Amino acid sequence: MSTLKNKKIIFVGGKGGVGKSTSSAALALAFSRTGQKTLIISTDPAHNLGDIFHQKLKNEKKQLAKNLWGIEIDPVQESKRYIDTVKDNLKGLVKSTMVQEVHRQIDMASAAPGADEAALFDRIVSIILEEKDNFDKIIFDTAPTGHTIRLLSLPEIMSVWIDGLIERRQKINTNYSQLLNDGEPVEDPIYEVLQKRKDKFKAVREIILDGSVTGFTFVLIPERLPILETEKAIKQLDQYHLHTRTLIVNKVLPDYADGAFLSKRRAQEQDYLQQIDKTFSKQTLLRIPLFEEDIFDQEKLEIFANHIEQSLKEVHS
Ligand SMILES: Nc1ncnc2c1ncn2[C@@H]1O[C@H](COP(=O)(O)OP(=O)(O)O)[C@@H](O)[C@H]1O
Ligand SMILES: [Mg+2]
Repeated sequence: MSTLKNKKIIFVGGKGGVGKSTSSAALALAFSRTGQKTLIISTDPAHNLGDIFHQKLKNEKKQLAKNLWGIEIDPVQESKRYIDTVKDNLKGLVKSTMVQEVHRQIDMASAAPGADEAALFDRIVSIILEEKDNFDKIIFDTAPTGHTIRLLSLPEIMSVWIDGLIERRQKINTNYSQLLNDGEPVEDPIYEVLQKRKDKFKAVREIILDGSVTGFTFVLIPERLPILETEKAIKQLDQYHLHTRTLIVNKVLPDYADGAFLSKRRAQEQDYLQQIDKTFSKQTLLRIPLFEEDIFDQEKLEIFANHIEQSLKEVHS
């Protein structure tokens, strides 16, 4: 089945402003109101889930409504937590005279590009592993396209990277015992930490790659750049064997929108909609109309969710 209805984990991507958060929130609402226990997680540093639900979301799970919980991952806090874990892992393993130097190096590494991403990724991995049996649906409202692709391809990149580290550790293991227990030879605990991380990534990779569990969807609007970007993103994900089956085409001018100005826009939009149909012939397309106003309250979100449900029904019938 190609649509989102029967996926447990759903990643929602797309350009900034196209309606990722609104679509994620509406999907979450649609699932939760049919009695499915749903968790929605914002991984976009430009969080706006809290605004949509009119509640302050936190770095930890918070109940938003019946059957609905939410998390906004705070990248700064996550990065700090990640570094603290790394330091913690080394506690008791490194000679006391070395602690300061090792911490200095970890702090330096944490300022390097990619460190925040690694921390964010680590949290996503943990959430998937810890919560997949507690919820019927887990929805990730992700950051704009390029960033998401990088993140989703990370299990692959990370395992290659960890393999490299493990190999290097095996090589230096002889010198290594000098650092530990004041020179007494010991089992390499860092090797074990790395091995554990590798197992964790591997488990998540399998979940993400399993098309019957995980679904990817991009939100786009009928305009030139979002179409091009979505096409590129789908191709990139395909390379990692992550296949996008569903797209949400948002902000489509409704038939009842009147006036000369809008009919001109609609004519242009028709071209883009045709282009979308042609370019994304392999994907299921869910069309959502442009509302008269922003989706800023529960009532409008419910209507948005109805549209999603309706178009899901249409593709199923
Ligand atoms: N179908 C729609 N009709 C009208 N406004 C919409 C629609 N979808 C989204 N919006 C509005 O567009 C803005 C951007 O949506 P948002 O979901 O925050 O985008 P993203 O998370 O992709 O940056 C918000 O103000 C939202 O209320
Ligand atoms: Mg958003």
